[in-house]
Amino acid sequence: MERYTEEKYRTLYDAKENELERLREKSAESAWKPAYHIHPQYGLINDPNGLAYFNGEFHVFYQWYPFGAMHGMKHWAHVKSADLVNWDRLPAALVPVEDYESHGAYSGASLEVDGMLYLYYTGNIKYSAEERSANQCLAIMDQEGKIQKYENNPIIEGVPQGYTGHVRDPKVFEKNGRYYMLLGAQRENLTGAIIVYESGNAIDWSFKGELNLQIDFPDSVYMLECPDYFELDGKDVLIFSPQGLKPEGHDYHNLYNVMYAVGHLDVEALSFEPENFQELEKGFDFYAPQTFAGKHNERLLFSWAGMGEIDYPSDKEDWAHCLSIPRELCLVDGKLAQRPADMLKQLRVKSETSSVTIESGSLMIDEGIGQHELEFKLDTVDADIFGIELFASEKEGLVLEFDRSSQAVSLNREKFASSFGGEYGFVRSSELKIDSSVRVQVFIDHSIAEIFINDGEAVFTARVFPEKGSNGIRLFSDKKVSCTYTKHELKQGITR
Ligand code: FRU
Repeated sequence: MERYTEEKYRTLYDAKENELERLREKSAESAWKPAYHIHPQYGLINDPNGLAYFNGEFHVFYQWYPFGAMHGMKHWAHVKSADLVNWDRLPAALVPVEDYESHGAYSGASLEVDGMLYLYYTGNIKYSAEERSANQCLAIMDQEGKIQKYENNPIIEGVPQGYTGHVRDPKVFEKNGRYYMLLGAQRENLTGAIIVYESGNAIDWSFKGELNLQIDFPDSVYMLECPDYFELDGKDVLIFSPQGLKPEGHDYHNLYNVMYAVGHLDVEALSFEPENFQELEKGFDFYAPQTFAGKHNERLLFSWAGMGEIDYPSDKEDWAHCLSIPRELCLVDGKLAQRPADMLKQLRVKSETSSVTIESGSLMIDEGIGQHELEFKLDTVDADIFGIELFASEKEGLVLEFDRSSQAVSLNREKFASSFGGEYGFVRSSELKIDSSVRVQVFIDHSIAEIFINDGEAVFTARVFPEKGSNGIRLFSDKKVSCTYTKHELKQGITR
């Protein structure tokens, strides 16, 4: 069948003279570029891919469209680090020039096999604006970091019977000497599923069937993207990104959302028995996360700190999005808690602690915040509504509000001249048990705040695009509240 053509389906190799230099120069001037979050120098990034601690280094690949802030021909960009803090930008790892990936090297994961890093990804194929197919592909990175596409690609051609062309995002793991590949899929009746392939050598695959998740998704769920799987404290955990969920109470308020399920996986029997499943994050800009084993076999996660179908204020500067900071996952009472990876402490260059008490009202407690980690302990016995405003100025502010009477916490990002995404609401919230003390840890990086409450019990990721001068911290409360506040100045981790 004839392939679809459109201007946005061209690769880096088709760049016009000086085109990339011009893009780089234009977006370098942005005041919103993060300092230690992985982000593009120009163009748009989305999902983290192929995450690995391999041969003594951390490798992060991610979806990248070079020619501006739009979803077009996706490449795999590549950065690496010895410490999760200082990142080196490397040449694009996958440039989709082959027929089996004619419309992009889509998301996937990696696995170390015989001392090599196997990078699994989806070759996206488009026949028209609507019609598509998918191939599953392999590239191999050796110990020197040289990456080559597998000569007999694709390793899985097309999609299995019963599914539409939406089959993608391979996650491969080994269990009892066999290899298994999970893929996000759409059934022919336009509902979402996870399907499984198996292999004895991690190269030749056969279709095994659909994973029985035993979760009753509403029929509106039309696709499950980016499945991820790992073991944690003797439990099996699945993370996936369903599309088509409707908002429900505090949950699923983004256009696309992320869920996890803790339970028991019997992959041979294609069954997953969930003990608990729910939304993973409460923020606005969190999608398609992927996990991997760190240096000490701890479970680390990176996510796309962005959302599809929304115009972001940096689009006009020809760059869009960043990844989250690396987070460590822990199980607490059967629930998944996300905490900033311990190695991020190496970002700190200067720390200061202070204390302040207010009887009621609001008080600016600091200014000049842009590239910082902030830790707050808020103590109050009877305040009903209290909280912290970040990126605060006369006109702007990101408002984190605790509400004792409804035992909830909310985050409001409406109050910005460059507010955006309002079509999906400006407020996100979570239930939270509010006692006499609340702990809040925030990573701020120019145009992003990642907020961890009570050691990762609730986490909010929010992009905001403040005006110059919106860099204060304001404390507010309806009754007496005491706040212990530590500010860590953080260093640059990646070139802009
Ligand atoms: C998720 C996703 C994946 C796909 C990739 C394309 O954000 O849609 O399912 O592989 O992005 O960039």
